[in-house]
Amino acid sequence: MTTQQAAGQQLTPVTVVGLGPMGGALAGALLERGHPTTVWNRTPEKADGLVAKGARRAGTVAEAVSASPVTIMCLKDYDTMYAVFDPAGDALRGRVVVNLNSGTPKEASAAFGWAAERGVLYLDGAIMVPPPLVGHPESVFLYSGPREVFDEHRATLASMGDPRYLGSDHGLAVLYNAALLDMMYATMNGFLHATALVGSAGVSAVTFADLALNWFMPTVVDATLTEQAPNLGRGDYPGELGTMEMNVSALEHITRTSVEQGVHSDQPRLMKEIAERAAAEGYGGQNYLAVFEIFKKATPAG
Ligand SMILES: NC(=O)c1ccc[n+]([C@@H]2O[C@H](COP(=O)([O-])OP(=O)(O)OC[C@H]3O[C@@H](n4cnc5c(N)ncnc54)[C@H](OP(=O)(O)O)[C@@H]3O)[C@@H](O)[C@H]2O)c1
Repeated sequence: MTTQQAAGQQLTPVTVVGLGPMGGALAGALLERGHPTTVWNRTPEKADGLVAKGARRAGTVAEAVSASPVTIMCLKDYDTMYAVFDPAGDALRGRVVVNLNSGTPKEASAAFGWAAERGVLYLDGAIMVPPPLVGHPESVFLYSGPREVFDEHRATLASMGDPRYLGSDHGLAVLYNAALLDMMYATMNGFLHATALVGSAGVSAVTFADLALNWFMPTVVDATLTEQAPNLGRGDYPGELGTMEMNVSALEHITRTSVEQGVHSDQPRLMKEIAERAAAEGYGGQNYLAVFEIFKKATPAG
């Protein structure tokens, strides 16, 4: 029970625009928490299940936005947002709109400009969990935009998950989203490629996962990433315990092993090329984390 419910107050009414798998989960979580919930979707039948559970179906976006002080939007992308919300016109003025579509920082900043022209109080956000985890208190949701708007509506946002405020720069939520997903895909690809590599000798994924994950957490995550993160900020990459040149040669072995074992070799080859570039740029005697200096710059043309 929320503090508002404990005090016998009605929870803030919320509108959800966009009822794909994610928007439907958001509306479901808000309803379950007890928020009077209004919904709108281009394909109206997608609201049927929510209406059966007590949601109110709006006939237009203007009607949907007018029904609640806070509107959560969860549409395919930012272009869809303009197409859907522009027809709402003056109904938007003075309303809080929280954009949970995926996009880029530039798209988020442009959306803020669009919102400011219409008198909309705008937060940009990103959802870091799949639909089945929406509504769990530990599910991370990222937000950026005006602090006072976030603070005023934090309790409502907490009905969907754990709201984390990142700062007033509107692009921050989608930037963090891209960064975290970048890390997720790179880590998943690392595990999947490694599993294919040992799989070439008949080792099962379950057998490998048991050893690999128990090695990865203390050796890579704790001893390297957590302990050495402060060095990244300082550009401090002492090479006494292992140099970039040594790592280029390790990546060369991984690439050749992949070829020998008949598995895909692009991923280790690309990592080797990046480490070689670091060595060519003067980091050959420093440790592997100096690759960070290469990642901070745009990919050279050609
Ligand atoms: N699903 C996930 O695991 C997940 C996780 C994190 C973030 N997200 C983000 O959440 C957002 C929604 O994702 P989703 O999985 O629910 O499905 P989606 O396919 O990305 O978006 C579906 C929603 O967009 C609407 N839509 C698409 N084109 C439209 C148009 N031209 N005019 C009006 N409405 C339009 C759909 O309406 P109709 O129903 O009428 O087609 C539906 O409401 C995306 O930005 C996605 O990146 C999703």
